[in-house]
Amino acid sequence: MPGVERWSPDVCAEKAREWLSLGIGGVLLFGIPATKDATGSSGTDANGIVPTTIKAMKDAAPELVVITDVCLCEYTDHGHCGVIEGSEVNNDKTLPLLAKQALAHARAGADIVAPSDMMDGRVGAIRDALDEAGLSGTPILSYAAKYASAFYGPFREAAGSTPREGNRRGYQMDPANAREALREIRLDLDEGADLIMVKPALSYLDVVAKAREIVEVPVWAYNVSGEYAMIKAAAARGWLDEAAIMMETLVSIRRAGADAIVTYFAVDAAQALSR
Ligand code: PBG
Ligand code: ZN
Repeated sequence: MPGVERWSPDVCAEKAREWLSLGIGGVLLFGIPATKDATGSSGTDANGIVPTTIKAMKDAAPELVVITDVCLCEYTDHGHCGVIEGSEVNNDKTLPLLAKQALAHARAGADIVAPSDMMDGRVGAIRDALDEAGLSGTPILSYAAKYASAFYGPFREAAGSTPREGNRRGYQMDPANAREALREIRLDLDEGADLIMVKPALSYLDVVAKAREIVEVPVWAYNVSGEYAMIKAAAARGWLDEAAIMMETLVSIRRAGADAIVTYFAVDAAQALSR
C-alpha cells in the first residue's frame, strides 16, 4: 500500500527527527519480530525489536512521544492476540505476557503503552506490573472499544498477523453493539486506564461521541489501515481528491469528539496543516 513500509530501528530514529520537525506529536510503534512462536515470546524480550527501536528513537528525538502497541498477535505464529489453548484464546494466561511486554517497553523508555488485545483484566495487570517496577508514571492508553472489523485487513498483511485459523470475534467487539463499548470503557477506567481508544474510527464515530460524553480522560480514535486504504485506492484512480478527503475525514473524527487521532495520514496532514 502506498506510504506504508516496515522500518528498521535506525530508520525510525531518523524519521523521529523528521516527524518532530513536522509538528507530529507522537508515534505508535508496532513490532515485527525475527521469530514468532506460540506464546509470542519475542514480544517480551527486553532487547527485542520494539525496545531497541524505542531507545533509538528517544535518543534521536527525545520530545517525540513514543507509544507502543502491546499485544501478542504480531509475535505469535498463530496470529491471535492471546495464548491459544485447544481452539480458544485463554484470557488469563495471556495477562502476564502482556504485562511483561508492557514492562519491557516502559523500561526501554516508552512514554505510553497501548494494549490492543482486548483481553479482560489486562489494564489492571499491566498497571500492577508497571507500579511494582517503579513505573507508576507510565500511562496506559487502552484500546477499550475495539471492534472485530474488516477494516484491519491491510494492517494484518503488513504485520503478518492474520490469524492462521478462526477470527478475533471471541475477544473483539460486535460492530452491531454500541452499549458494550461504553461498558468496556468503564471497566478499563476502573482498572486504571489513563486514556482510551476507539477503533476503527470512521464507522464508529457514534461511539467516539458517546465515549467523549461519559469519560473524563482523553478519548483517542484510530483511523485504521482499511480506512486509509479506501481513500488511497480511490485517489490513485482519480476518483477522489485525496488531500480534501483526508482533511474532511480527520475533521469528522475530531468533530465527533476525539482528542487525538492515530492515522496513517499523519505526515500528509501535518504538512497540510503547516501550509
Ligand atoms: C491487533 C491490532 C490490530 C490493528 C493493530 N493492532 C487489529 C487486528 O489485527 O485485529 C489494526 C490497525 C489497523 O488496521 O491499522 N492487536
Ligand atoms: Zn493483537
